[in-house]
Amino acid sequence: MEKLTGLKKIKTAVFISGTGSNLKNIIKFSKIKKSPISINQVVSKSRLAKGLKYADQFKIKKKIYNFKSYKEAEKKISLLLRKEKIKLVCLAGFMKILSKKFIKKFDGKIINIHPSLLPKYKGLNTHSRAINNKDKLAGCTVHFVTAKLDSGKIILQKKVKIVARDNPTSLAKKVLKQEHKLYPAAIMKIFN
Ligand code: GRF
Repeated sequence: MEKLTGLKKIKTAVFISGTGSNLKNIIKFSKIKKSPISINQVVSKSRLAKGLKYADQFKIKKKIYNFKSYKEAEKKISLLLRKEKIKLVCLAGFMKILSKKFIKKFDGKIINIHPSLLPKYKGLNTHSRAINNKDKLAGCTVHFVTAKLDSGKIILQKKVKIVARDNPTSLAKKVLKQEHKLYPAAIMKIFN
């Protein structure tokens, strides 16, 4: 990842689909002086994504692409990212699998947060799978995005204890709290 020069921050886009608590958290992190990034663009797959309110609140440009045609959506997103000179893409609960072609174009510049201790539990329903398997530990991972789902190089992970009274909802809540610490830490790590 390119080193920081002077006071210029790396122009970053955050892709969301839902609540956007990670988006809010990354925006807040980007505002602090030591943060290597600025958030210049929010991309959502749905206009119903609750997280879009944070783009409004922090006056960040937002675009919505419905992905009815993947090819068209990705083409438009590529153009947008180039136009806005985006150098880093943070996927934060973005529920679409980007194509190989798109990922190749932005090779090494897309990162994702996943709610499990990868390589365990790639894909969906990570918390119920961990509980059903009687795991003692769950957690979250920030990793580089490659064409293979949830398989790119791991940047940072954070473990979370699973206790007997945990259910998928309570575990998701605990893990999300750690995600909010992990994403900024991972961004700091890749630019250091
Ligand atoms: C997070 O748990 C993230 O790891 C997963 O989707 C959730 C998104 O939460 N991929 P939010 O929209 O950032 O609140």
